[in-house]
Amino acid sequence: MNTVNVGVLTGGGDAPGLNAAIYGILLRGYQEKDIKILGIKQGWKIFTFPIEEIPKIKEFYVEELKIGELDDLHTRGGTILYTSRSNPFEEVVKLTDPKAQEALRKKVALDLKAKMHIIGLDALIIIGGDDTCGVGAALYKYTNAKVVACPKTIDNDLAGTDYTFGFFSSAQLASNSLDSITTTAHSHQRIFVVEIMGRDAGWLTLFSGLSSGADIILLPETPFDFQRDVIEVLRERVRAGYTYHIIACAEGAYPSMESLERDFTVISAEDINNLPKDTFGHPELHALKIADKIAKQIKRTKELKQFFEQHYVNFEVRSVVLGHTMRAGTPNVYDRITGLRYGYHAMSMLIDGVYGKMSSLNGTQICAVDLEVGSKKKYVDPNSDLIAIRDAMEDVKYKSKEKLFL
Ligand code: F6P
Repeated sequence: MNTVNVGVLTGGGDAPGLNAAIYGILLRGYQEKDIKILGIKQGWKIFTFPIEEIPKIKEFYVEELKIGELDDLHTRGGTILYTSRSNPFEEVVKLTDPKAQEALRKKVALDLKAKMHIIGLDALIIIGGDDTCGVGAALYKYTNAKVVACPKTIDNDLAGTDYTFGFFSSAQLASNSLDSITTTAHSHQRIFVVEIMGRDAGWLTLFSGLSSGADIILLPETPFDFQRDVIEVLRERVRAGYTYHIIACAEGAYPSMESLERDFTVISAEDINNLPKDTFGHPELHALKIADKIAKQIKRTKELKQFFEQHYVNFEVRSVVLGHTMRAGTPNVYDRITGLRYGYHAMSMLIDGVYGKMSSLNGTQICAVDLEVGSKKKYVDPNSDLIAIRDAMEDVKYKSKEKLFL
């Protein structure tokens, strides 16, 4: 029987558990006599070169993965395949006419399939978030290429699965940082605004904020009113006897338009509308540095300063960006196991002749969902119990203290 060459690539921001998914793929592949696994380095990058250049550069981007040389790969952080945000459809994103977009998308997809052939790939396993998997979905849709995917992202914002691997390791790191910062906040009687990754989804901030008992949790899904949700809460907390405050703020948590226009002098709607865009056409929300802006705006609120001083509480504000420390280090148990399961399942799908699907976690079961549907975005539901708990937790601290003082 002919050997089947299966390519594996990791794209987008790295996430703890990527190596676990690769190891899961290798474990399943090793059980078959005729499968060779080729690691494709730096995500979709090789696919962005002109087709005629690929034979020349292949040696820099493609390497066979041998399980015997990769013992316990699932325990290691990052990705041995390197990653990138290269987007073969970057030119499509720049077009505005939907018909022209569609025509170019199809052309690029056919081109991708031809490049798979030149690289020597019979099938491809993509490990990535909505952008990386979106490329795979288009490749499958227009060419029927043998493609399957594993969902990863620390942001947990993929529609087709309960959780993506990377999320819980990252949420734990953020929760630990929020826990730790309370001691210095306490010592100096400071307000800390802590910025947490997640793009336009609030999962990381919500889970780490709830887990660590952050005093205010600001999320993209529930645009905040600066006066009501920040200034008033800080005032009530001081009235109730608190001397320090932790605000967990998602990098994409912006004020409502009304609050932005009424309360903010340090940012404007224009700043938000003119944010730089990434290769997939998404605004780079972190570029606004929202935690820094909130901290600056709090500092400028003279009445709040007076109120703190009247209560003999120090009025100082600091902002901290957790940034890439949140993606650092080794995966936790959950992400190692989930990565292994996704990888093993993805390779099983290829072996069974199932294409155009993404491995997915549904409760405790691993199953398959359509790649096109699964790789769409998922946000925190503002009507969910998690948001109700957030709101209850924030209020109860100062309200329950007031009752004690009665
Ligand atoms: O998508 C994952 C993510 O970690 C986001 O939370 C964050 O905005 C982004 O990647 C950061 O990307 P980069 O590593 O390119 O700065």
